[in-house]
Amino acid sequence: MKRVRIGVAGATGYSGQELLRIAARHPHVEIAVAMASSSSRGIRQLPALAGLWDGSIEPFSIDALAADVDVAFLGFPESVSAEIAPALLARGVRVFDLSGAFRLRDSNARQRWYPKTPVLNTTAVYGLTEWNRPAIRDARFVACPGCYPTAALLALQGLTSVGVVSIDSDIYIDAKSGISGAGKKPTERTHFSERHGNVAAYGIFAHRHGAEIEQELQHPVTFVPHLVPLDRGILETIYVRLTPGATEASVRDALETAYPDAPFIRLTGDVLPEIKNVVNTNFCDIGWKVDGHRLVLVVCLDNLVKGAAGQAFQNFNVAYGLDERTGLL
Ligand SMILES: NC(=O)c1ccc[n+]([C@@H]2O[C@H](COP(=O)([O-])OP(=O)(O)OC[C@H]3O[C@@H](n4cnc5c(N)ncnc54)[C@H](OP(=O)(O)O)[C@@H]3O)[C@@H](O)[C@H]2O)c1
Repeated sequence: MKRVRIGVAGATGYSGQELLRIAARHPHVEIAVAMASSSSRGIRQLPALAGLWDGSIEPFSIDALAADVDVAFLGFPESVSAEIAPALLARGVRVFDLSGAFRLRDSNARQRWYPKTPVLNTTAVYGLTEWNRPAIRDARFVACPGCYPTAALLALQGLTSVGVVSIDSDIYIDAKSGISGAGKKPTERTHFSERHGNVAAYGIFAHRHGAEIEQELQHPVTFVPHLVPLDRGILETIYVRLTPGATEASVRDALETAYPDAPFIRLTGDVLPEIKNVVNTNFCDIGWKVDGHRLVLVVCLDNLVKGAAGQAFQNFNVAYGLDERTGLL
């Protein structure tokens, strides 16, 4: 297969650098251009990728990007994606957007959580790879899921979709994330002295990833994110009630049935997942414990890989009919 010419925009960001790291080793990709913001800092290099990818980061220009590539990966803040993604699509570029700008389909929810997102004629395909392969195959526009929703949905969807989790169960998602989830620009909440030696909950009933999880799950959830003093990785502990008669074997059967050919899902059963086992990989590890009608799931992934750049390339592989693992294993 001829190499696909891709552009990485937002390439100096945490997820953008991961996009380049994967693209540099991907056998069917040619990195035609990498861009960051159009600030006056001129051409930049990425020391972390020296020897792997020695290209230059250019100031952002939509004309240069659209002229040079078949596919654009966008690692922008969502307000920037909201403007740039539609313009690229209009110029015939296939877009894999890492931001949340186009993930929510309900117009009221979108208005509430992503007010800068314009109304488009086309709907982006929600790029949760394991659950949406047929639509991703034909998609010109993929909205890659958020990092927290990826973990929650991969753990829950295989159970709610077959009724192993009780329809009237409350679903509690207690989530912990490393600080890179907030991007590279430090804020009062995220800078080192605030986070070192500290753990804090935030965004209770007020985090847009809650809306995204509910959209895909079609079930209300209580989503409570926490920041923990790690640079990367997400661990979610999820509490649900099983349908009467369901057992540990039903949970195992449902998850094994949901993921028969999913190279990046590792079902660990009662060996509970830990962040250190998934960091720098595209794996999502799912473990569980059952006691009577109570089910606790524990799920882990790397927010910058399976939660961002890795999943974007998994979707790219599906879209181009490649083995899903290409460039990722
Ligand atoms: N971090 C995660 O774990 C994660 C996971 C899943 C999805 N996401 C989503 O992925 C996107 C990127 O996240 P991130 O954490 O990688 O962000 P980040 O570290 O803050 O990087 C943002 C990138 O966008 C560029 N940029 C900012 N404003 C721009 C503008 N006006 N025009 C052009 N480029 C601009 C920045 O360039 P400069 O260097 O020039 O400022 C930088 O390259 C976000 O939408 C985020 O919600 C992030």
